[in-house]
Amino acid sequence: MTRASSTQSILPRTQIPRHVAVIMDGNGRWAKKRFLPRVMGHKRGLDVLENMCRVCSQAGVEYLTVFAFSTENWRRPADEVSFLMGLFLSALQKKVIKMHENGLRLKVIGNRSRFAPEIQQGILQAEELTQNNQGLTLTIAADYGGRWDILQAANALIAEGKTHISEDDLTQKLMLPDAPEPDLFIRTGGETRISNFMLWQMAYAELYFTDVLWPDFNDEEIHRAFTSFTQRERRFGRTSEQLPIEQQRP
Ligand code: FPP
Repeated sequence: MTRASSTQSILPRTQIPRHVAVIMDGNGRWAKKRFLPRVMGHKRGLDVLENMCRVCSQAGVEYLTVFAFSTENWRRPADEVSFLMGLFLSALQKKVIKMHENGLRLKVIGNRSRFAPEIQQGILQAEELTQNNQGLTLTIAADYGGRWDILQAANALIAEGKTHISEDDLTQKLMLPDAPEPDLFIRTGGETRISNFMLWQMAYAELYFTDVLWPDFNDEEIHRAFTSFTQRERRFGRTSEQLPIEQQRP
């Protein structure tokens, strides 16, 4: 039995998070530990992301949203930014075919205007190709920031002439308006910050931090994160006693 199928069989579907959000941190340190250039960590990170998609699909996760490039990441050394852009483009051109065959849907959220025209084109083509698929929705946050997302939503409402807005109004203008809010947020690499990722949508996400570096985040580590999620009592402001018995934790 593979680890992926063990995640599927040990955890009942009802305990699998519908939406998992991930900060894939630690690529550079993983490479450094092996005396490799930092970018080799990103290359390996992309393979690990592919595996995460496979495991999440098999386990019944509906949405996987990953932070691939923040608005602040433009400040990295030019050669690293350029490598990440190349990796993104080649993933859009090559990996997306396999994703499509596997029934995955791809979305990209963030400010696309700063990407090279071929990346913008690649994003549009990949989204169009996979838009009707019914499997896992993989959303890549690229040139994304949670504050930017809230601001662009607020500005869109102002542009419509709204003078008073509700939570629903704002939610509908955010990136990913149709996805449920993340149930589980995972950050690898030892930092315990949210780092401006989906600030509005993560209000009730269960947070899971691990020292494991992203390139080492294998099936066993995914299973560990999902198991931790099942042990949380999600009260959404209510008391433990108000929850259905099966959701109460001892
Ligand atoms: C953080 O690790 C990682 C990133 C800024 C890039 C994440 C990118 C990938 C996993 C590649 C795959 C994704 C796509 C869509 C091409 P870090 O470099 O900050 O690591 P460090 O903290 O050890 O330096």
